[in-house]
Amino acid sequence: MSAGTGHGRNPYRPGAAIRPLFLAGRDAEQRRFRAVLDASPQLPANVRITGLRGVGKSVLLKRLDELAGDGNWLTSRMQVEPRHNRDATLLEATVGLASQAQLRASRAERVRKRLRDVARHTRTLQVTWEDLSFSIDPLAGDRTTSLAKALYDATNAAVEADFAGYLLMLDEAQVLRDETDRNGQHPLSALIVAINTLQEQELPIGIVLCGLPSLSSNLLRARTYTERMFRGEQIGALSRADAADALLRPAEGTSIAIDADVVDRVVDEVEGYPFFIQLWGAELWEAARDATLTNITPALLDAVEPEIYRRLDADFYDNRVDVLTPAEQDLLMATAGCPYPPLTSADIRRRSGKTDANVNVLMGRLSDQGVVYRIQRGQYDYTAPKFHEFLQRRAGRQR
Ligand SMILES: Nc1ncnc2c1ncn2[C@@H]1O[C@H](COP(=O)(O)OP(=O)(O)OP(=O)(O)O)[C@@H](O)[C@H]1O
Ligand SMILES: [Mg+2]
Repeated sequence: MSAGTGHGRNPYRPGAAIRPLFLAGRDAEQRRFRAVLDASPQLPANVRITGLRGVGKSVLLKRLDELAGDGNWLTSRMQVEPRHNRDATLLEATVGLASQAQLRASRAERVRKRLRDVARHTRTLQVTWEDLSFSIDPLAGDRTTSLAKALYDATNAAVEADFAGYLLMLDEAQVLRDETDRNGQHPLSALIVAINTLQEQELPIGIVLCGLPSLSSNLLRARTYTERMFRGEQIGALSRADAADALLRPAEGTSIAIDADVVDRVVDEVEGYPFFIQLWGAELWEAARDATLTNITPALLDAVEPEIYRRLDADFYDNRVDVLTPAEQDLLMATAGCPYPPLTSADIRRRSGKTDANVNVLMGRLSDQGVVYRIQRGQYDYTAPKFHEFLQRRAGRQR
């Protein structure tokens, strides 16, 4: 038996942030990202990536991290967690990332020196921290200053070690949101203001923020100018052709082939969502292998489909509901019976029998937990694709 994608190894990768064997349909995003890096620092290298659950944001972010490395950028990548949504903890985490990056930069510098064994022209930034610290808005506070200083140091170390610049990449960035209260927590603003201040001096620093669609509105609420500060990438479902590729390509290196009819049916069923493609592929491929078939046929798909849906609900959907409070669960289950899309507060109120205020509070909590997001006043959508269908299945099970 051969290694890797050979005979006995399932070539599909359903999971979170797990690289697929074939990354389908994201060429344009990669091309635009290279262009963004090339245009820095005259144009700030900031990218905002948004999309639904399982659409391939994290995998794309990892790929962009590699591309940045190819372009000789020093990068730090982190997945934001709820505990980071405080001024002090975000500061601590960012300072940690920046100082690790600084360390890597100086190590790289030593290696490069040894490799070349010649006198290097160490580049330095045109702007010193002293020049820069004056341009930080005194109202922005100490935390912003400390953030800016840490990011300045990392960028400086990067440049001295002959990197093109320093890039901070944050996944699940929708978790960061400012409080509306003036005296509350403003972690997102602090970060944006710090980056913006450095970029105004044309320092080669950039930020890539990746997350659920609510990231966009969080950014706008933090600072209105963020609209112009970021190149926005909305990552959606794959086109039919790309979805077919995502299903077909991984199997090509194996002893099992997929019938054209099956490809058509799966592509219809999964509506182009990458996680679903990996899951359908993994289950079908395994069933074919277990039955020692050389082809995945429509009959096999018929036989396996109920099991695929069982696994889909268990692995992808159920825990999103199970972690909620009973009141939140009830409201969410009530949305299964609402007209869709979109969900409206009025429909939810009618369906659940709860008051207006109650619905608003609960939908707010569901948004905070990333289960739904607000499209506009009184209108919501789910953050996971095909979630409405799932809730109907779950309701059916509970009856
Ligand atoms: N372009 C693609 N082609 C093929 N498979 C992909 C592609 N993008 C992602 N996948 C697969 O889809 C699944 C989900 O990817 P990923 O974890 O990156 O999604 P995500 O958008 O970050 O989801 P979440 O919002 O839950 O974090 C993984 O199994 C991954 O291998
Ligand atoms: Mg992700």
